[in-house]
Amino acid sequence: MTLPATAAERAATYWNAPETVRDFASLTAQPYLVEILARYAGDLTGPALDLGCGGGRNTVALLEHGCTVVAVDLHQAMVEATREATAHFADGLVTVRQGAAHAVPADDDTFALAVCYGVLHNAPTPQQFTASIAELARVLRPGAVLALNTFTADSLDPQLRPGETAGQYVLPDDVPMTLLPTEEILAALAAVGLRPEGDVHTYVRDLDVGPRAVLRCELRLDASTGDGTGTGTGGSDGEDVSRNA
Ligand SMILES: C[S@@+](CC[C@H](N)C(=O)[O-])C[C@H]1O[C@@H](n2cnc3c(N)ncnc32)[C@H](O)[C@@H]1O
Repeated sequence: MTLPATAAERAATYWNAPETVRDFASLTAQPYLVEILARYAGDLTGPALDLGCGGGRNTVALLEHGCTVVAVDLHQAMVEATREATAHFADGLVTVRQGAAHAVPADDDTFALAVCYGVLHNAPTPQQFTASIAELARVLRPGAVLALNTFTADSLDPQLRPGETAGQYVLPDDVPMTLLPTEEILAALAAVGLRPEGDVHTYVRDLDVGPRAVLRCELRLDASTGDGTGTGTGGSDGEDVSRNA
């Protein structure tokens, strides 16, 4: 008898599929990330984290900006793709690990910069989404910067059906994801001391899987927790790989 696949197995089937890996491995870093790295990477006092590294494009961009990088992805095929994409960099500059956003394989207060693009909304539950935000705050040093983008609930694709709990939505292939309103995400970030620095961009992207609302911003971790929030609007960036904010 074939047992039904769990949600985690269905997600792994998608992310480990050769065509998914190939799509992400073929991308280069978004121009806005290159601009962000030019702003921040020069005067870092510690290593950088690429959480949910996919095919490795942002890890490569971090390395090209002089960072030492730890890249983490839940799915083994993505880990291997990032290893391959970064193989030409000198030994010791990059470590690629398999691990989950809600249990980052790193010590407290390790990173001076983190990039987390297109990852948080893959949490199957809002609890895991919030746990991932807490993990980012845990592994960042006080004063460190987080470059974040994630899908939100600000505009919902009719193909998504509501899940069992508020904030959970289910994709047509039965993989759950978490979509929260921008204000709620910013409040969860502020609750662990991560506050937007500069503009907070919110926009809708037309992807091949359907329209997705995106939150994109940089945040700085303060030394203590708080609950301030902020929001604004920004433009679209015109790239269209599935499930990629
Ligand atoms: C949309 S891709 C983005 C990849 C990369 N950040 C980029 O911008 O190209 C999402 C990545 O998150 C990974 N991922 C999904 N859920 C994860 C989790 N809970 N923890 C860590 N990585 C996860 C997937 O395997 C995939 O590589």
